[in-house]
Formats: sequence, C-alpha cells, structure tokens
Amino acid sequence: MSWDITKVRADFPILHRNVNGHPLVYFDNAATSQTPKQVIDVIADYYTHYNANIHRGVHALSQEATDAYEKARHTIQNHFNAQHAQEIIFTAGTTHGINIIAAGYSALLQENDELLVSAMEHHSNIVPWQMLCEKTGAHLKVIPMLPNGTLDMEVYETLLNDRTRLVFVNHVSNALGTINPIEKIIDQAHAVGAKVLIDGAQAAPHIPTDVQALDIDYYVTSAHKLCGPTGVGMLYGKSELLNLLPPYQGGGEMIATVTFTKTTYADLPHKFEAGTPNIAGCIAFGAALDYVNSLGLEAIAAYEHELLEYATTQLKKIDGLRIYGEADNKTAVISFLVGDIHPYDMGSILDQLGIAVRTGHHCAQPIMDFFQIPGTLRASFSFYNTFEEIDRLVAGVEKAKQMLE
Ligand code: ALA
Repeated sequence: MSWDITKVRADFPILHRNVNGHPLVYFDNAATSQTPKQVIDVIADYYTHYNANIHRGVHALSQEATDAYEKARHTIQNHFNAQHAQEIIFTAGTTHGINIIAAGYSALLQENDELLVSAMEHHSNIVPWQMLCEKTGAHLKVIPMLPNGTLDMEVYETLLNDRTRLVFVNHVSNALGTINPIEKIIDQAHAVGAKVLIDGAQAAPHIPTDVQALDIDYYVTSAHKLCGPTGVGMLYGKSELLNLLPPYQGGGEMIATVTFTKTTYADLPHKFEAGTPNIAGCIAFGAALDYVNSLGLEAIAAYEHELLEYATTQLKKIDGLRIYGEADNKTAVISFLVGDIHPYDMGSILDQLGIAVRTGHHCAQPIMDFFQIPGTLRASFSFYNTFEEIDRLVAGVEKAKQMLE
C-alpha cells in the first residue's frame, strides 16, 4: 500500500488531540469529516486579508472576495463535470439544496403525480417531499429495500410509470454505506420521463461523480463531508431544469430589477443565492476539493476499502455482533449492534475510550424500522484513519460488551 498515512494525518491537527485521556480515534466521518490545515488556512486567509461582501463593490477587497468565490464555483463545476458554472448553486448544505428543488416543484406538480423515494433515504430526502405532496396532492411511493441493505430494483421498475415525475435516491446510504446503482436508476426513470435527484452527501467524499456522464438532473452535496466547513454545500441542476423553477428565497442579489409593482429575477446561479452567502465557507469548499483531488479520489477509495475489509473481518470475530447493511458495493461504513446492548450505552463507553462513533437512527428511521431495531452504532472511516485505530475500536467494543452484558 503506497498510501502515506503519516503524511496525510499530519495535515489534520485535530487528529493529534486526546479525548478522555486517550488519543482520539475519529470514526464519525459520515456525520462530519475533519478539516485539513490547508482548508483551515484558506478560511483564516479570507478573514485576515480580504473579508468583504461579494458582487457588490468596486473596491479591491470586494473584488478579491468575488473572484475567490466564483473560482470556487468553477472548482466545483470541474470536479463534478457540470457543463456550465451557473448550474452550480451554493447552498447551506444538502438539506438546503433538496428544499430548493422541493419548493420549486410545488409550482410544477399536479394532483396524482407520483414521486418515488428510496427506502434508505436520510430524513432530509424524505420530509421535504412529504411536505410537497401535502401541498400539491402528489403521491410519494417507496422503492423498497432488501435485507442485505440494497434497493429492490425489480419493484423499482414496476413503480415507474407515466405519472412518475421525480425519483429521489442517495448515491450512498449514510446509515448502511450501500452504494446505489444510480446509473440504472437514472436510465430507467428517464425512460418514463421522470427526473432524478441524487443525494450525494455520502458519496462525494469517496466516489468520483460525473453529472453529465450519469445524466443526473439534480445533485446535492455538502462540503463538511469532504474536508470542508459545515454550513456550505452545492446544488447542481441542468440549467434548463433550474430555469423552470421559481426562486426559493427573495432578497438581495437574486434580482434583476426591483420596483414596487414588479420584480424580475437574476439569471442562474444568482436566482437561487439570495442574501450574503457563507463566502469564506464557499471558498473553503473549493479548497477542500483541491485538497481531496491532490490525494486522488480513486486512491482514497482504495485505501478506505482496505479499512472497510479489515474492520468488517475484525468486528465479525466478536461474538454476538451483527452488521446491518452488507451490500457487495459499499463505502467504508459499518453499522452494527452487539447482542441486546443499546447502541447509546456502547457508544458512551467507546467515547470514554476516546473513540468517536455515531449512535442512534442516523436520521434514517425507516431503515431502523425495516430492521426492527432502535438504532445502531456506526463506525465510518476516512482516508486519514488507520488499521491500528480499527484495532482500538475492536478492543473497545469487546471491553464495552464485557461491561454491559
Ligand atoms: N447525515 C449525517 C450522518 O449521517 C449527519 O451522520
């Protein structure tokens, strides 16, 4: 393995701290990845040298801030291979991006239109569509899941029909790590004239995604999953589709002209970027992509796969441990339970040992209902984690099991 883990870890100051008297083991990367000093430096540089509002002033600082903000948009465009920079809308995160589309469709849907959502979505890709159905009289139907944590693609095909307007699916499940076959899902949806929104929050840090090659209609993701700051994300939409949607919020910067009798709206992307955005965060999002690309997404995925295989093998040796989500194709996420131990109790003991995992339903209650469990412990690995850290997790789970059983 040519992965230089020592060099990579040196980029992340937080990985060198102690928690509860132990060196931190950070396995909650699916919730928030850590931030390398290259990205932290970009944020500090903005506030130290050119903090100003964008698109608003002729003065030098405003121009520098505008240039850096628009450069970040181009970095994102290139990373996801969007055809046009104006198809990239800066958002406050994945949830915000989904809500922009959902709000827009309230003007476009009719009663008895059908929307399809996968059974393994995060609440952020369920609730906005339920709210949209309440407003419009459209119906939300569910693409079911199989016990191994993959989608039932046969049922998906039968659910598609000429009333299907939209399909929503995550590229990767946050709770299970399943990589969904989005290419097939998109092709089949397009065959009946439906549009597809891909939630890329969990995939973007691990899988190169080409929105044109996949013919994605709408794609959303968050910076904080891929080494950027929280509170920033992006919405991609094909320009012909985004042009059909009304603005999500009214305010400054999203207008062409305003009078008390009539306002006309700005073109893309500004139509969807009302108000002062998180300028430093957007610039840092671009820097985070530069950082990740300097390591190489394919090399990252290969190393993380090694971590996943090792952790799966080692954890499975623990008597009574059950893994939820055993798709052949998954990212480095392991959701598990041990015997009857409540995930919160085990998670608390792991925390005492300096090991951060997420516990609970992971904002995906329907998945927990499917498995008839209250929640899981979730260890999610990143390219800066080590095999030794996995050994500490395994030892920690063993210790917690002895204390709690
Ligand atoms: N969606 C994030 C997670 O899976 C918060 O933890």
